[in-house]
Amino acid sequence: MKKRYGSLINGSWVKHKKTFDVRNPFDNSKILEVYDAEETGTLEAIESSANAFKEWKKTSAEERSYFLKTFHSLVLKNKKSIAQTITKESGKPLKESCIEVEYGASFIEWSANQCLRNCGKIFESPEQTKRMFYVKQPVGVVAAITPWNFPLAMVTRKVGAALAAGCCVILKPSELTPITALLLGELSIEAKFPSGIFNIINGKPDMIGDILSKNSTIKKITFTGSTKVGSLLMKNSSKTIKNISLELGGNAPFIVFSDADIDLAVQGLINAKFRNAGQTCISANRIFLNKEIYEIFLIKLKDRLKKMKIGSGLKDCDIGPLISKQALQKVENHIQDAIDKGAKLEFGGKLYKPNSLLFEPTVLTNIKQNMLVFKRENFGPIVPILIFDKDREAIEMANNTEYGLASYFFTSNPKRIWSLVDDLEYGMFGVNSGKISTYLNPFGGVKESGLGREGSLQTLEPFLETKFVNWNF
Ligand code: SIN
Repeated sequence: MKKRYGSLINGSWVKHKKTFDVRNPFDNSKILEVYDAEETGTLEAIESSANAFKEWKKTSAEERSYFLKTFHSLVLKNKKSIAQTITKESGKPLKESCIEVEYGASFIEWSANQCLRNCGKIFESPEQTKRMFYVKQPVGVVAAITPWNFPLAMVTRKVGAALAAGCCVILKPSELTPITALLLGELSIEAKFPSGIFNIINGKPDMIGDILSKNSTIKKITFTGSTKVGSLLMKNSSKTIKNISLELGGNAPFIVFSDADIDLAVQGLINAKFRNAGQTCISANRIFLNKEIYEIFLIKLKDRLKKMKIGSGLKDCDIGPLISKQALQKVENHIQDAIDKGAKLEFGGKLYKPNSLLFEPTVLTNIKQNMLVFKRENFGPIVPILIFDKDREAIEMANNTEYGLASYFFTSNPKRIWSLVDDLEYGMFGVNSGKISTYLNPFGGVKESGLGREGSLQTLEPFLETKFVNWNF
């Protein structure tokens, strides 16, 4: 790996004036330096994408699919080194990084396949002399802004689909975890991507986000991150009426009914809560337990938590560090706020090791709806538990949030499953499962959790325009 990385612009690595350090959240050691593209580099990347688009949009679906399949094979071939990079820069356990490489690669392969199925439609004409149809064409230059928590998968879910649709992309990965994206840049060169179809720039998110969202050459913004930033990008993009897709914050309920398989539900919670130390948008954030199974669930949960290993992601562990001091402050603040308002600390609650970002899995009971742990996503290993009696109570509390990304529930009653899918205001459901992530999932949320969906059958759709033709021949 290089010691210093530039931007990938027009197929070459470009240096700029300033650099910033990328650090390992486990021990704060410096991994390497990355050049800050600032305004000049960002504008160069936009120009390069616009030029490349003139040719890329004319390529056949077969050609685009071929490039993506080559790229997909290279990602899998380099699985070990990419996974290690993900762990070094994000802190997540290596076993999770390996899963992320496969998950991330699956989006490239799926896009390469769906690319071959892109098509318009011909209507049966109402008049003999007419033919009416529509075609699907790429929207143009796309800016993809991705978060730190899945340095690979959030990139490939956007970039794979955009390139498959015939768009050119400027990627701005998180400044906390840019190296994985830069490795993808190396692989795009090895896959012989035409110059300029995939550009990568790094630097300060507010400055680069501002340029990308206001520039008229860019026709589409696709963003995964906080609702606050998503809303700002949407506001800025409105000036040039950009197409926009947003995958934003969540506040996932995790509901366990009295007829649930308790061991399955505890395992589901471990999966939905502790992936990436709770730092995912779809993490279980509020746990609702029916009063009949509350005690047994709590005992079984604590037993599992006692066995969880906390430490360096590169060693055998289940929970790695939080990403930053701000993330740690937020977790501590949420716990203190809950305790101040009457919550009971049942497990954990503090740093695992002084002066580190390693935080113990934490369980709080006696949670009230006015507490921060109820209202906001904690993005950490906190399990806030509430008790309910009737289904209606659980549904009302679960919906009492402005977010609507993922939700989870455990029950053996099929009738209840149908009515919960109807009544819960969420975009994705884990039913008797704490895992919902797959390329088949139309990933996204309702309410303030975002706009649009990524992946699944419609994966190319956000990157396509529809053109209708009414042909009198
Ligand atoms: C996220 O946290 O935003 C993405 C999680 C996933 O794709 O599984």
